[in-house]
Amino acid sequence: MTKLVAPSILSANFNNLGKDIEMINHSDADWIHFDVMDGVFVPNISFGLPVIQHVSQIARKPLDVHLMIVNPDPYIVPFCKAGASILTVHYETCRHLHRTVRHIKEQGAKASVCLNPHTPVSLLEDIIGELDMVLLMSVNPGFGGQKFIENTYKKVRQLREMIDAIHPECLIEVDGGVNFDTGKKLYEAGANVLVAGNFVFTSDQPEETIRKLKNI
Ligand code: DX5
Ligand code: ZN
Repeated sequence: MTKLVAPSILSANFNNLGKDIEMINHSDADWIHFDVMDGVFVPNISFGLPVIQHVSQIARKPLDVHLMIVNPDPYIVPFCKAGASILTVHYETCRHLHRTVRHIKEQGAKASVCLNPHTPVSLLEDIIGELDMVLLMSVNPGFGGQKFIENTYKKVRQLREMIDAIHPECLIEVDGGVNFDTGKKLYEAGANVLVAGNFVFTSDQPEETIRKLKNI
């Protein structure tokens, strides 16, 4: 089973972002996770295109961009041009999800759909065949460092069953409150990609923490 780790730079040191990107470049991390927030879909504003564009010039790992924004369609091309390899939109923000997913793939990026903690996995049944990845939120989106929501394990198991039956290549990513304990249980439940922000960047040895997360 594929096991990947994607550190979220939401918890990085923005006074010296280049240093944290270099740390990720040298580490066992597979991707770099970017949390783009608009202050409308989520109650926080983070960063956007210029940051991703700059990081893409020094990053040696694929950029995994998580759009927490209403009306993502006009931004698909700009984020792909800025360097996104994997682009995630929220189910809750897309009126024509199938069209949005096709649009992402036409740009040559991997298409991923995210579900908030209250949104059931079953709603993806008729789109899962088109997806490269599903991102399950294990906290309410908007902030790093929140407490993991236990119901996520059940959702991972349900999604694993659906994916194995319909489209086994589709990856399951989980985002929020990931640490060695929750991460181990998530991999066991069938998750493939762990996003970790606070846990990595508050650690004394972030590189070692990334290495251990991959091998729990
Ligand atoms: C929350 C974000 C997460 C966050 C990770 O809105 O989507 O990616 O940075 O959360 P922690 O800090 O819990 O790992
Ligand atoms: Zn995220």
